[in-house]
Amino acid sequence: MKTPRNGMNIIVLVTMIFGLIVCFAATSMAAANIKKGKRRYNEFCTPCHGKNGLGDGTRMKVEKFDPAPRNHTEGNYMNRRTDVQLFKVVKEGGKSQNFSHIMPQWKHILKDKEVWNIVAYIRSLAVNPEWTGTPLPPDPKFDKSQKK
Ligand code: HEC
Repeated sequence: MKTPRNGMNIIVLVTMIFGLIVCFAATSMAAANIKKGKRRYNEFCTPCHGKNGLGDGTRMKVEKFDPAPRNHTEGNYMNRRTDVQLFKVVKEGGKSQNFSHIMPQWKHILKDKEVWNIVAYIRSLAVNPEWTGTPLPPDPKFDKSQKK
């Protein structure tokens, strides 16, 4: 009689952990502070991404990165990316997510909370009248697996 009960307990536990992760992911963005995110963005990100997020920062102008730093105002692309995807690129760096290694990782400098604040700020930059709040399907133009 012991085995089925343990089996049940594991299912309950896994469900609870999953539930907690979902709650955490949801509240991280909900609790994010756009103003604080903007402050950090201006400190660390504008040299490449530019003062207005257009991808035209001073470092870009001098070093001519290829690919260029993402234009964070381009809603047609940005709104296809989920909050978690953006969070991962910022935290773990471009290379870890199949993007350019020029996009640095920030996990040693920024706390998770600060990264969420920045993601919330970046979200406020992307303009797209089609945006419905649900990520659109990936655009093949930007799908890295189709490159080369
Ligand atoms: C040294 C230049 C540089 C700095 C500094 C930099 N980035 Fe980037 N970033 C890039 C480049 C280049 C790309 C484009 C990568 C690609 O398309 O392969 C990029 C891409 C991105 C993307 C797009 C990811 C996606 O899903 O397409 C986000 C979001 C981003 N950066 C956020 C940030 C944030 C936030 C900071 C500051 C904390 C920052 N970047 C600082 C160069 C930089």
